[in-house]
Amino acid sequence: MAGRFITFEGGEGAGKSTQIQRLAARLRQHGETVVLTREPGGTPLGEKLRAFILSGSAEALGPDTETMLFAAARADHVDRVIAPALARGEFVLCDRFIDSTRAYQGSNGADPALIEGLEKLAIGAAKPSLTLILDLPVEIGLARAAKRRGDLDVAVDRFERETLDRHEQRRRTFLAIAAAEPQRCVVIDANRSEQAISDTIWETVRNRLLETGS
Ligand code: TYD
Repeated sequence: MAGRFITFEGGEGAGKSTQIQRLAARLRQHGETVVLTREPGGTPLGEKLRAFILSGSAEALGPDTETMLFAAARADHVDRVIAPALARGEFVLCDRFIDSTRAYQGSNGADPALIEGLEKLAIGAAKPSLTLILDLPVEIGLARAAKRRGDLDVAVDRFERETLDRHEQRRRTFLAIAAAEPQRCVVIDANRSEQAISDTIWETVRNRLLETGS
C-alpha cells in the first residue's frame, strides 16, 4: 500500500481528538491529502455498532462477543475507507485502532487468541505505519474526560465508567505494546500543553514518514 497510516491510541482524556485534528491540518499545509477517521465508527455500519457498544448494550453479551463486534466494525472500516485511501497514496489518520482492542477488550477478559485472530482478519494488509500512544496518568485523563463531558453535557460511556484499576491496566498494556513494537509505536507524553504535544507529534511524523528536511 502506497499511503501512510497513522493511528492514535491512549486512555480516556488523553487529547487524541485534538491532536489528530492538529496533525491533519499540518499535513494538509504540507500538501498531503489526509483522511481523518475514528473507531469504532468511520462507516455507516461502524457508527451503528459504535452507538450500540458505547450505550452499554453489548456488555451483557460478554467480552468475546464485544471483541467480535469491534472486529466487524473494523473490517468494514478497513475495506471501505482505510485500504482504498492508502491505495490512492493518501495519509489516513485514525482515532483508535487495533491497540484499543488489545488494551480494552484484553483488560475486560476477552480471549487473547480471539483478539489476535480477529485483528489479522479485520485489517489484512492495513497495518499502521506509525502508532502514536498518548500517555498520561489515569486520574488526570479521567478528570479531563469528565470535564469534557460536563462541558458538552453528554453521559458517561460504557468504558469510562469502569474502575481505576482497569484503566491502569490499559495504560500498562499500551506501554507494553510500544515496548514490544518500537518500529511501529512511539509513546508521546500527553501530560503537557496541547502545543508541546502537537510539536512532538509533528517531529515524530516528519522523522518517520516524511522526507528529511521537509
Ligand atoms: P470515544 O468516545 O471515541 O473515546 P475516546 O474519546 O476516549 O477515544 O469512545 C470509544 C470507546 O471505545 C473508548 O472508551 C475505547 C473503546 N474502544 C474499545 O474498547 N475497543 C476498541 O477496539 C475501540 C476502537 C474502542
